[in-house]
Amino acid sequence: MRGVTMSESGTGQWAIEVDGLVKSFGGRQGDRLALDGLTMRVPHRGVHGFLGPNGAGKSTTIRGLVGLVRANAGTMRILGRPVPQQLPEIIGQVGAIVERPRFFNEFDGRKNLRLLAASIGQPAHRVDAVLEHVGLTERARDPYAHYSLGMRQRLAVAATLLKDPQVLIFDEPTNGLDPSGIREMRQTMRALADQGRAVLVSSHLIGELEQVVDSVTVIRAGRAVAEGPLAEVLGGRLSGSWVRVTDPDRAAAVLRKHGWAVAVRPRGLEVTGDLPPVAITRQLAAHDLWVEELHPIRTSLEERFLELTSTPEPFVTGPWRSV
Ligand SMILES: Nc1ncnc2c1ncn2[C@@H]1O[C@H](COP(=O)(O)OP(=O)(O)OP(=O)(O)O)[C@@H](O)[C@H]1O
Ligand SMILES: [Mg+2]
Repeated sequence: MRGVTMSESGTGQWAIEVDGLVKSFGGRQGDRLALDGLTMRVPHRGVHGFLGPNGAGKSTTIRGLVGLVRANAGTMRILGRPVPQQLPEIIGQVGAIVERPRFFNEFDGRKNLRLLAASIGQPAHRVDAVLEHVGLTERARDPYAHYSLGMRQRLAVAATLLKDPQVLIFDEPTNGLDPSGIREMRQTMRALADQGRAVLVSSHLIGELEQVVDSVTVIRAGRAVAEGPLAEVLGGRLSGSWVRVTDPDRAAAVLRKHGWAVAVRPRGLEVTGDLPPVAITRQLAAHDLWVEELHPIRTSLEERFLELTSTPEPFVTGPWRSV
């Protein structure tokens, strides 16, 4: 009942809030800064991607959130509670896959989950519910040793759901999965978010998550470089348009007269620049030139992600929608 009666202020404005997190690891060559003042906001509802290249600090952050790594400075809150200090009070509402969970090879999926349920005081009937949730019911009687990587990953997700948590934290759950395994993982995350949960999922590959994340934090060298709704943060910038038009040569001349860069190509005119499509169609129509097709050319999410994570640039943010 507690989850139902807790007011919004009681759970915090965000499902997860990280402020100024600093973590250094000592090494032979001195200290290495894994987190350099990381700030992150994860909404209560939806799938939030935590994206950054290898070594950017994703796992260190996630390990910090679940109390496996102690930060040098900064604060973290989950559902409004400071962690790790108050982690015991909210641990029942948080499910996490931080490293590859250890299941028993010789036991089947169901028995593995039953053991786990018993160890965390959850009733056995939850096991069948979570197996169903991740689509493993039919293979629940197979030994874990016979599970594919994708099935193992789904069993790991099922394990996090035993407590019916409000917040889910998955560190690179798609790592090593084939395209169908990745798609299944995306569908599972989507379903969890659609039930009103917060899902924080990390990846170094934007392509694996772009279809499922609602919002993102992009991290580079231990700092957030962008955060907000996916379209605002990684939304492709307009870089030009392909235009198929009745008389391409005359159309090119008209557009060039306005100082626009135009190349005539077999598939149409390539107009370079961030001209709004309406400016092109209006100009051509004014000269009795009729547009048959127009495709805005946008930089891909992947290009944008690479830009953000390879060259230092000012923090980018999009307005947070209330979700
Ligand atoms: N226990 C540790 N001891 C020393 N250095 C560590 C430790 N854990 C992480 N680091 C260092 O901290 C930095 C961030 O590592 P982290 O594992 O958080 O990155 P990541 O974003 O999860 O990368 P990946 O995509 O490869 O999983 C790296 O330079 C890493 O070598
Ligand atoms: Mg990692």
